[in-house]
Amino acid sequence: MKITTLALSSLSLLTSSLAAPVDLSSGKITLQLNIDLNQDSVSANSLNVNDLFTFSSTHAVQATPEQVVNGTTATGGISGASGAFHFGINSATNTICYNITLHNFAGEFSSPAVTATHIHEALVGASGPPRIAFPNPEPIGGITSNVRQSAGCITGPFVTGVVMDGKDTGEGFHVSQIEADPTKFMSDTHSSIALAGAVRGQLA
Ligand SMILES: *[C@@H]1O[C@H](CO)[C@@H](O)[C@H](O)[C@H]1NC(C)=O
Ligand SMILES: *[C@@H]1O[C@H](CO)[C@@H](O)[C@H](O)[C@H]1NC(C)=O
Repeated sequence: MKITTLALSSLSLLTSSLAAPVDLSSGKITLQLNIDLNQDSVSANSLNVNDLFTFSSTHAVQATPEQVVNGTTATGGISGASGAFHFGINSATNTICYNITLHNFAGEFSSPAVTATHIHEALVGASGPPRIAFPNPEPIGGITSNVRQSAGCITGPFVTGVVMDGKDTGEGFHVSQIEADPTKFMSDTHSSIALAGAVRGQLA
């Protein structure tokens, strides 16, 4: 890691924030340092370094085809498919770590969003906008096993690629909103043969 030293005369540090997304599949840790040099007052960062490696909550979601709806109409998803969506949230750093395993997904991943695997803000039995888009699970354990997995961490600001009311549905989203009421959120993944969703499950 290269450390660049800046000579700060009139400039000083307002905030520095460290986010450490851990790539669970490769074991890599990426450190990102954001420094705001535009202010001349110094304010201590409230973030405790211990917060970087701590989850403020975890969520285990069993996603099934039966829970998929379009609006309030059940669409059935992909029969025989299932998903285990495991999340670890760090609300101090606006980070969510995910380990998503899909069994018997079929068709191609398909969604107007940047990926087809999401957390949506939606009550049970209802549709709602995606707030976080995760990398789509990739086949593991050989092509015949039909198990797919995606694991890693994402830190906000979030971008879904879906625009509603003139802004991205991830814009301004903070993972603490999930912790405030996980019953308002669900995770799912969408397929070309089940556009409304292949499998879905509520976070609580
Ligand atoms: C993800 O979950 C699967 C299934 O429970 C597990 O086998 C795997 O070790 C987990 N991966 C990580 C990186 O935690
Ligand atoms: C959901 O239903 C509406 C109204 O019937 C339809 O226009 C739309 O294409 C459906 N969306 C999906 C993803 O199936």
